[in-house]
Amino acid sequence: MADDATILLDQALRDLEAAADEPAVEAWRIAVLGRNGSLNALMSRIGAIPTDERRAFGAAANQMKQQMEAAFAERNEALRRASLERETAQAIDVTLPGRPLAIGHYHPTTQIVREISGIFERMGFSVVEGPEVEWDYYNFEALNIPKDHPARDMWDTIWVSPEGPRAEKPMLMRTHTSPMQVRVMEQTEPPIRVIVPGRCYRYEATDATHESMFYQIEGLAVDEGIGLADLKGTLYEFARQMFGEQRKVRFRCDYFPFVEPGVDMSIDCFKCDGKGCRTCKNSGWIEILGAGMVHPEVLRRAGYDPDRYTGFAFGMGPERVAMLRYGIEDIRLFYANDLRFLRQF
Ligand code: PHE
Repeated sequence: MADDATILLDQALRDLEAAADEPAVEAWRIAVLGRNGSLNALMSRIGAIPTDERRAFGAAANQMKQQMEAAFAERNEALRRASLERETAQAIDVTLPGRPLAIGHYHPTTQIVREISGIFERMGFSVVEGPEVEWDYYNFEALNIPKDHPARDMWDTIWVSPEGPRAEKPMLMRTHTSPMQVRVMEQTEPPIRVIVPGRCYRYEATDATHESMFYQIEGLAVDEGIGLADLKGTLYEFARQMFGEQRKVRFRCDYFPFVEPGVDMSIDCFKCDGKGCRTCKNSGWIEILGAGMVHPEVLRRAGYDPDRYTGFAFGMGPERVAMLRYGIEDIRLFYANDLRFLRQF
């Protein structure tokens, strides 16, 4: 009996030593220390032992059990420590310098839109935005461009309504930011001083100065007693802040159905300093905005009394401004997503 116990103990301890991982150790626990394990099996034989030996047998068995439990705990702990060590051996070296994060920056258009907006904000204009998908009514009709009017040919239009311009309420990608003139006036009492930056869309063949998606910044000022001198003064000041004192500014008459009189403003060519080159199509000037005094009919439609209120409006292409500022020769570079280009700004 005592021999059986010794053999069991020896064998069990050797088996435990051989258990290579935690599942094996657990299997060992069940086989030896478990309810139906070999230790209990040994103990159950106590009945077959002569009464006077039972006490000694019981004490020996208990001691054996404690010994096995201690060995089990120790083996478990050793395995746990070994697996922890394996893990830390694979872990990252926290003393290594980190990989640098690539830090991006604003797109050149965003930068220039913010800069232009800032100049006008300091002159008292607030910035508002409007929808890029627009009703025919705001994009054309309310701006004095009725259906079938030849002036519509100035805008190549991307229609959203499936029936195109023949729809009952035609809808389009706005071709300019001018529809916001009407939306702002409908919702606000004069005086008004707002600028409206945003994307515009035209259905056109692209070239070095034309994109089918581009930005405009609309400006609108309406109040009693506003005149053409206010328009020129405001835009001169803008050009001075944007391009510096040395750039020349030119106003010429131009036609837009929603202003009267209408003008356009050009800056002398950055490339040839006004001598004439490919970039300025040999004119020496680059046009950056259209402008004019808000047409009385537009004021009336928006619910303003044109005998009391007058105003000026302008619409400029910020990409063109950026092109002038940085000497960029092709507008298509802005939206071609070539990081070699974008990273330069
Ligand atoms: N909306 C005109 C365009 O896209 C520009 C413009 C705006 C002209 C405001 C006059 C007044 O060409």
